[in-house]
Amino acid sequence: MTKEEFLVTPYTVEGNINYEKLIKKFGTEPIDNILLNRIKKHTGELHFMLKRKIFFCHRDLNWLLNKYENGEKFYIYTGRGPSGKMHLGHLLPFLFTKWLQDKFNCKTIIQITDDEKYLFNNKKLEEYTKQGLENIKDIIAVGLNPKLTEIMIDTYNSKTLYNNAIHFAKRLTISTIKSAFGFNDSYNIGQYFYTSFQAVPAILESVRQGKNIPCLIPLGVDQDPHFRLARDICPKLGYYKPAIIHSRFLPPLQGIEGKMSSSKEETAIFTTDDKETVRKKVMKYAFSGGRKTLEEHRKYGGNPEIDVSYQYLYQLLEPNDKKIKEIHEEYKSGNLLSGELKQIMVKKANEFLEKHQKARRKAEEKIEKFLIKD
Ligand code: TYM
Repeated sequence: MTKEEFLVTPYTVEGNINYEKLIKKFGTEPIDNILLNRIKKHTGELHFMLKRKIFFCHRDLNWLLNKYENGEKFYIYTGRGPSGKMHLGHLLPFLFTKWLQDKFNCKTIIQITDDEKYLFNNKKLEEYTKQGLENIKDIIAVGLNPKLTEIMIDTYNSKTLYNNAIHFAKRLTISTIKSAFGFNDSYNIGQYFYTSFQAVPAILESVRQGKNIPCLIPLGVDQDPHFRLARDICPKLGYYKPAIIHSRFLPPLQGIEGKMSSSKEETAIFTTDDKETVRKKVMKYAFSGGRKTLEEHRKYGGNPEIDVSYQYLYQLLEPNDKKIKEIHEEYKSGNLLSGELKQIMVKKANEFLEKHQKARRKAEEKIEKFLIKD
């Protein structure tokens, strides 16, 4: 892969992602200021992830807002594949989902795909289901409202999912799946079938209510290919295409290329990491945009665009616009050193995690309230 190349699918994220090119490649639309103002009209304020274009592109958001303005309320759908512990990147779409839920007061469906992780990885199915229950604590901990939120675990809700998935499966050919995901003949047939499972919650509310209900899916952009296929099929089944809002990736600690991995401990900060672990990981691994020597740094300044600590603050940990601007300026001018920037990031990450872990402990008793029965 050359410096210019990159690959984004739900199963492989590689290279230095150029998000503008990705918009063209995927055929999504950029989120512009006109659209942001339109959202703001309904929400009163904009989430910092919108203002900063962390959520950077979409499909059919204007259509969704047309419907909303005409009195058709939408629901939200998002999900998690429980391959392991959750890291800060996984939390990003859920934090934004919580904001959307509050602002639009909408019903939210969350899918936990233990079956997917079993089909694509090597552990026993039960281990993924168990991991799913652990991940649910993180998802609840972002503050989702139990009255508005339903969590489906694929193996617990297989009847509902299967009975709807077959309608997608019937219209998805092997060659379509191959070209969307890069699979070959050695992939198992469950992997080929899986997209039809992930598609179901995008129509589920409409199926249940017997009339079309618009759906909005916030996700990391790697998940888009599943819904590109699902969106083609929805109208054939008589349903609306879901609207989608896509976020960029919180980078791995080692640098801005690719996506963090839950299988490599040192590439990510996990939601359950303690303060000392966070400090050590950041100090040791977080890629720095600083200069080689102190003298050069003071003279030429650092590069916040490639500095991982800055990116974590910008994308997730420092919502205050004035403060993030100050950090940007100080770092660029060379007043703020890389080590100092790392310390700011460690402090913010640990404050965030302390709050999250407290809510996570409390979430344990609440799980039942969120799970739905088949
Ligand atoms: P999963 O578990 O890989 O990821 C869960 C969500 O987190 C996003 N994500 C990231 N976002 C920002 N920075 C990162 N470094 C990062 N890594 C992951 C993912 O894009 C995703 O939104 N098959 C799905 C589960 C699923 C789903 C859905 C996701 C089922 N239905 C509907 C989104 C919408 C999966 O394995 O996600």
